[in-house]
Amino acid sequence: MVTKNSVEFDPYIERKAFDETQEGVKGLVDAKITQVPRIFHIPQGSLTDKKPSVSDLEIPIIDFASVHVDPSSREAVVEKVKHAAEKWGFFQVINHGIPLNVLKEIEDGGRRFHEEDPEVKKRYFSRDFNKKKFVYNSNFDLYSASPSVNWRDAFSCYMAPDPPPPEDLPVACRDAMMEYTKHVMNLGDLLFELLSEALGLKSETLKNMDCLKSLLMICNYYPPCPQPDLTMGISQHSDNSFLTILLQDNIGGLQILHQDSWVDVSPIPGALVINMGDFLQLITNDKFVSANHRVPANREGPRVSIASFFSSSALPNSTVYGPMKELVTEENPPKYKDITIKEYTEGYFEKGLDGTSYLSNIRI
Ligand code: OGA
Ligand code: NI
Repeated sequence: MVTKNSVEFDPYIERKAFDETQEGVKGLVDAKITQVPRIFHIPQGSLTDKKPSVSDLEIPIIDFASVHVDPSSREAVVEKVKHAAEKWGFFQVINHGIPLNVLKEIEDGGRRFHEEDPEVKKRYFSRDFNKKKFVYNSNFDLYSASPSVNWRDAFSCYMAPDPPPPEDLPVACRDAMMEYTKHVMNLGDLLFELLSEALGLKSETLKNMDCLKSLLMICNYYPPCPQPDLTMGISQHSDNSFLTILLQDNIGGLQILHQDSWVDVSPIPGALVINMGDFLQLITNDKFVSANHRVPANREGPRVSIASFFSSSALPNSTVYGPMKELVTEENPPKYKDITIKEYTEGYFEKGLDGTSYLSNIRI
């Protein structure tokens, strides 16, 4: 928790005051502030603490067009997925089968919600999934130990296995969310098959472990920032998921930490960004990596992204996950303790996005 620690600057009171506006970062920008409030300030130097990106280094781009053509072309795709999952934890996928208009609809719908009249958005304002299925707020970790607040608003909704009744979703993005979910579930199905094959296991293995079962969709909205050097769009983190499918708009800004350098994930029209989450690193006993990534703040904006997390996250789920027995041997013993997703999520939320991975807390 953020605690009271000084007379001059009480971060808890200031974070709470920001929260109670229920208008998020967008509300500050609409009020035409020119100075970033201090709750958003990052520790000095944290933006430039790593080497800048090497310009010719690009995350892998994998074409899925040939995946259903014949076994040997599928095998070639599996090899590329394996390389990306082991060495990068990230790749971009083209020809993934989700039509361009479906991508456009969800991006536009997400933006439309965030740009609704504040009174409309306030109806959905909450931090509690027990009260609402569709939750809008700014900084899920506002009251955690995170060192600074991010220049970002978001809405979230669990879309699988129990999708909300459509009427519980805002009109601005209702149809788009329902439609995009169907396609994301299909692509997720294929991705978990390819990842299972990349581990040398039967195609159904990861799905049989319920990796595909739960989907949490989050739409991030990064308003333009008047002093981008002082804050972050989203602080360095790895994802609390098995796998994340990210759709970013054409502004760019996502960076991943690779060999101690920040590498830009350049937007490719129609492509999706795929990344391994902490639970895939855990169950594969570090064979696949859940890479750190971030989005610096930007004068340009707003930027919109839709992150689809395969994870039951904070929902009740008593399944215990640990390194898969197929992947551990005497020479390669389990590196992690067993844990439920809910327990992991509670620790992840409490810690907040502070630049460290919660995986280190369960490392043996
Ligand atoms: C996330 C995330 C990146 C982006 O939501 O976990 O990393 O580009 N988003 O918005
Ligand atoms: Ni992320």
